[in-house]
Amino acid sequence: MQKMAIKLGYTCRAPATIANVFAGFDILGLALANLADEVRVSKIDSGVSISASIDLPLQPEKNTAGLPLLKIIEDFNLDFGFEVNLTKGIPLSAGLGGSAASSVGAVLAASAVLADEGLELSRSQQLAYALDGEAVASGSRHGDNVAACMYGGFTAYLHDDEFERVLDLPFPTTTALLIHPHFEVETKTSRGILRSEVDLNGMVRQQMRLLALIESHRDPELLSFACRDLLIEPQRSHLIPAFGTISEVATEHGALGFTISGAGPTMLALCNTQAEADNISSAIADLDLSYSYDVFFSDLPSSGAQIRRG
Ligand code: HSE
Repeated sequence: MQKMAIKLGYTCRAPATIANVFAGFDILGLALANLADEVRVSKIDSGVSISASIDLPLQPEKNTAGLPLLKIIEDFNLDFGFEVNLTKGIPLSAGLGGSAASSVGAVLAASAVLADEGLELSRSQQLAYALDGEAVASGSRHGDNVAACMYGGFTAYLHDDEFERVLDLPFPTTTALLIHPHFEVETKTSRGILRSEVDLNGMVRQQMRLLALIESHRDPELLSFACRDLLIEPQRSHLIPAFGTISEVATEHGALGFTISGAGPTMLALCNTQAEADNISSAIADLDLSYSYDVFFSDLPSSGAQIRRG
């Protein structure tokens, strides 16, 4: 009987994430339970070879998991390559951090392979490579999804020319109800429609919400004030038919806040409890929407990427 050679490798479970989180455009991220990509990376002789559970560009330079590994091979002058098997659990172009998850998963699983070879990547190197992967999909190195996926919980990705830090922030115990419409919105499109200038008064009111959200773990009464995005959501909500109606229904049924998850089209209702999330989900099901959708729930806060051998 012929024996199959099994290449040793590592698998990273990289969770879906909500980026922006109300007023934190391009800064805040929340990791989600129950929805993740699985990225397996093993060592091969050379190059980067990718297979995926769904139809995706498999050329490494056009793939969010592939490009960072090409850069690692080049930067460290490796005399071997990586095979990547992507099992996509996160829907594409959904606003659930799917591209960040594939990228983070590939970088962390490849890091584990490298550690076996005696080469340790720092957290900041891993973050930088994962951002390279995210940029393949979105055309921008914003780190809100990437940081939340890598670290878990509620994160802020802070960066400027010579400064970079991920903050691990406390978040009140809540439940996320996510409504994922069955159509795609490309992040590039959703970013392309944003005005580059902000109104001064609007900026001040948005900053108040951001601060209130950060403080809400100590004072949950702040949540009803905090859970608003006054700057970005009004510019994007037309991309999601019936957004206003769904938001009204969620709010009437007790949601702490309702907004677009990341660049959309998934919508987030932040709820006090699972029972409240169930109730809101039933009320939305009674609407006559022009599209079908999936519903996901997640306890918040939730953990970040996990690595296992195999
Ligand atoms: N902060 C990003 C945006 C998340 O809203 O465009 C999507 O990648």
